[in-house]
Amino acid sequence: MWNGHHLISMENADAAQARALLSLAHQDAFAADTLAGRSVANLFFEDSTRTRVSFSLAAQRLGAHVVDLTSSGSSLSKGETLLDTAWTIEAMGIDALVIRAGQSGACRLIADHVQIPVINAGDGTHQHPTQALADALTIGRALNLTKNWDFSGLKVAIVGDVVSSRVARANIGLLSALGAQVCVVGPTIMAPDAMRVLGCTVEHNLDRAIEDADVVMMLRIQLERGGGAVLASIREYHQSYGLTKPRADRLKADAIVMHPGPMNRSVEIAGEVADAGFPDGPSVILNQVAHGVLVRQAALVLAGSCDQEQLDRQARVAD
Ligand code: CP
Repeated sequence: MWNGHHLISMENADAAQARALLSLAHQDAFAADTLAGRSVANLFFEDSTRTRVSFSLAAQRLGAHVVDLTSSGSSLSKGETLLDTAWTIEAMGIDALVIRAGQSGACRLIADHVQIPVINAGDGTHQHPTQALADALTIGRALNLTKNWDFSGLKVAIVGDVVSSRVARANIGLLSALGAQVCVVGPTIMAPDAMRVLGCTVEHNLDRAIEDADVVMMLRIQLERGGGAVLASIREYHQSYGLTKPRADRLKADAIVMHPGPMNRSVEIAGEVADAGFPDGPSVILNQVAHGVLVRQAALVLAGSCDQEQLDRQARVAD
């Protein structure tokens, strides 16, 4: 999971490291001056609401200075490369970079060329590690698995435009490492059978996939990445692959419903299902948002304060 002091991917996630970070986030006992005197740059080269605001809040709550940069207001619009932008920000004495980019692999590339920690805030269709951590914290808290973060036996269905989704890839890596059985669900074009190489199963019938699921994670159709281009109609998609109220009513009694956001109501999820908030209803969507701040605090602390030896020691204590 950690690669040196960088947090780039949940592929082949290290369960001990993940459990250490989740425990830290769950305790929520960060001192307000933990990162006092440090500065964090949020480089968001693709739109974001949740991730960008929560990384800013997380850094501010730890006492760090936060610098925000987006493509439209930066010299990227004049042709400067991502790497030159990262080097420029690093040269100003910034202590950590949080990066969102449209290009898969951009965060890895930058991490390989700077000295300071890089945290991937979502790169193309590749990975979104802190979203997966927010989701794991949410699952652990909702299903009372916070003692040892062992998700063995848990059945997770990730539904929708899976092939376009960095959230799905990050969750497949992390939740599988924690012991869960992950099934991706969607029409063949959105959930191709080849996705089995990631360690999940693939199902094309939503009703069959969710009948014994403990966690149902709905995903948006990513029109900006070409997702859904071949769909005949959104109405038909909603009927076949949307989490409608009748479908939600057939879920297991203690199953939870997730969505990383942003949601398209009446497409992948009915508004009344999304709004049926936990614990009275199954939706933990706003819990995921709140938990984003906690895991990002933990990620910033671990990235900013420790070397590999320290991370390994922390992981051994939590194991
Ligand atoms: N889940 C997520 O990444 O949302 P944003 O694009 O709003 O950050």
